[in-house]
Amino acid sequence: MKHLLAPSVLSADFANLQRDIEMINNSEADWFHVDVMDGVFVPNISFGFPVMAAIARHATKPLDVHLMIVDPDRYLKQFKDAGAANITVHYEACTHLHRTISAIKELGCRAGVAINPHTPVSVLEDIIEDVDLILIMSVNPGFGGQKFIGQTYQKIKKLKAMIAGRNENVFIEIDGGVGSDNIIPLINAGANVLVAGNSVFASENPQQTIKELKRVSPEILQA
Ligand code: DX5
Ligand code: ZN
Repeated sequence: MKHLLAPSVLSADFANLQRDIEMINNSEADWFHVDVMDGVFVPNISFGFPVMAAIARHATKPLDVHLMIVDPDRYLKQFKDAGAANITVHYEACTHLHRTISAIKELGCRAGVAINPHTPVSVLEDIIEDVDLILIMSVNPGFGGQKFIGQTYQKIKKLKAMIAGRNENVFIEIDGGVGSDNIIPLINAGANVLVAGNSVFASENPQQTIKELKRVSPEILQA
């Protein structure tokens, strides 16, 4: 599968949100990555339903919603109604993860589970066949523009081994510190969805950067 690129709206210019959304619409990006933070699960607050619904009104590509919130079950329907195509919850925030995943699917969304850098992939052993997407945090969640954590490669490899013969079509999404310097080894390790915030929006020409991050060809560069 050719990798998907999901620019993170968290790094957009919120005073020019429509402009930045149109830029993503016109780019080679695949999904909008939408980071929702509640100030409790993570030490930051991003935005809520009105902003998300405004994004959805202009976006022509699926919204990949990453919930960094406690007790996400309370709001799943509202996120669906605000335009989410994918809803990813954190393993660390869900006491009854299986129930939460089932509820997301019943809403008709793709269901994802995210794990923090300190959480081993082994905890996903008994949920692996029920999810559509696994998001491995490659920074501590809460902020854009942080440094990529190298241990992520080992986690992707372990996850690849775990899904073999069980759920090989699951999306493996990497979130945090992704850019041109590490996208190829990440894809080679098994990642197939790459989130990019700072590397896209802090670049001189975001649309061109997206194009470059999409056009990387691991097979050729590996040889
Ligand atoms: C961090 C968020 C990320 C963030 C990525 O908590 O989940 O999606 O926006 O931003 P960069 O690519 O700048 O690390
Ligand atoms: Zn995210």
